[in-house]
Amino acid sequence: MASVSVSSDAFRRCVGEFATGVTVVAAEHDDGPAGMTLNSFTSVSLQPLLVLVSLGHGSRTLAAVRGSERFAVSILERGQRDAAIAFATRGAPFARSYVRRDDDGWLVIRGAVTALKCELADVVRTGDHDLAIGRVVAIDHADPLEHHPADRVHHAARHPRPAALFGRACDHGAVGVRGGSEHGEVEDGGSHAAI
Ligand SMILES: Cc1cc2nc3c(=O)[nH]c(=O)nc-3n(C[C@H](O)[C@H](O)[C@H](O)COP(=O)(O)O)c2cc1C
Repeated sequence: MASVSVSSDAFRRCVGEFATGVTVVAAEHDDGPAGMTLNSFTSVSLQPLLVLVSLGHGSRTLAAVRGSERFAVSILERGQRDAAIAFATRGAPFARSYVRRDDDGWLVIRGAVTALKCELADVVRTGDHDLAIGRVVAIDHADPLEHHPADRVHHAARHPRPAALFGRACDHGAVGVRGGSEHGEVEDGGSHAAI
């Protein structure tokens, strides 16, 4: 393949062809809670259990992850487009109404498919992002009342389905987040006590 000079727009359009799930990464440090919508999540290792997220320099979430040395990754359910939008705007206030603080202080998105609670194991600075590698210390499963019918086989179609990011829409703009409507919009959004 010929070597070409590539613009950042072309690069974004190209990598946007790779469909991913959508997560929110949240952490809390001296400046308070921070969270961002993020699709650069991947599992890395089974022994130990490691995941990776890529956090842009200058983001409040990166500062909170580095400061607290821990973070939670909530994998959004396909009906959680609103939550994805709420955490995708740099400089916007932390969208507390979507967040639950558990007994151990982890910040997880209400109604997410699952959440991985991670201690920061390593940070690799590269380009304009830091790769934060987290050791998974706990996992939250979806609320059984909402998401897990007793018979998993026969009710498979009703299982929570992750939000997905498709094709050209991956421009770090909220339009890229697609979620079905059968689970409704984020029924929790705005109706729960703030964290
Ligand atoms: C679908 C989607 C995926 C995103 N993925 C990332 C990502 O992987 N890494 C990143 O740094 N920003 C990503 N962003 C942008 C951040 O969500 C956005 O910059 C956020 O407002 C940063 O918040 P903060 O500065 O409060 O931490 C993504 C945005 C969207 C809509």
